[in-house]
Amino acid sequence: MLEKKEQLYEGKAKKVFATNDPDLVIVSYKDDATAFNGAKKGTIAGKGVVNNRMSNFLMEKLEKEGIPTHYVKELSERETAVKKVSIVPLEVIVRNIAAGSLSKRLGIPEGTPMKRTVIEYCYKCDALDDPMVNEYHILAMEYCTEEELKTIAYLALKINAFLVKYFASINVELVDFKLEFGKTRDGKIVLADEISPDTCRFWDATTHEKLDKDRFRRDMGGVEDAYREMMKRVLG
Ligand code: TMP
Ligand code: ASP
Repeated sequence: MLEKKEQLYEGKAKKVFATNDPDLVIVSYKDDATAFNGAKKGTIAGKGVVNNRMSNFLMEKLEKEGIPTHYVKELSERETAVKKVSIVPLEVIVRNIAAGSLSKRLGIPEGTPMKRTVIEYCYKCDALDDPMVNEYHILAMEYCTEEELKTIAYLALKINAFLVKYFASINVELVDFKLEFGKTRDGKIVLADEISPDTCRFWDATTHEKLDKDRFRRDMGGVEDAYREMMKRVLG
């Protein structure tokens, strides 16, 4: 029987607890929402439940596709047992359609399809505002090894291929998303963190209506409804 022990960490959207098993931790999803590195704060009622359940559902599907993840077992609507990993300090962003910071940086309208899938990396460091880095920076700074980076890029593209198809089947365009990877005690790279409306841009494929955290970031209203709608499409 897995027992919840002391809190190890509190992030912007989740808390992490130790357990009686040294290889497992419990993640607890909050309704707290932040944007722009914490400059904007709020709550999205029910978000923790949506993100926990959606992320678990997708990670189970990805495991069946042969993608190793940290997911172990859903414990309740907000809590999940996951493998204890050390997080590779990179935000791995995958883009299928231009939006957000890419549209701004390159001056291309939101909604422009990318002719090839784009991967970007940001160094996870709140004090530096998660600066974008490339493969050379990552290896020079030893954020991970070359072998690990190869695995991460390979897995990110494989995850994208699966998710694009999956979301298309529920009439959602997967515009872009952010992944994080972790390393288990035996050195294996696994998908960690979450896949949810907090970390993905989801557009209704017919109306192009935004069904994700951009509604909160951009003060568009209808935030809770968007999360509920995504939960309904994914989990029925
Ligand atoms: P961006 O266009 O702001 O760079 O965001 C790209 C994708 O990454 C988008 O789906 C939102 C997600 N994202 C996060 O999950 N966390 C973050 O801190 C940022 C900046 C983006
Ligand atoms: N989660 C990030 C923050 O709080 C950014 C974002 O999702 O926009 O800063």
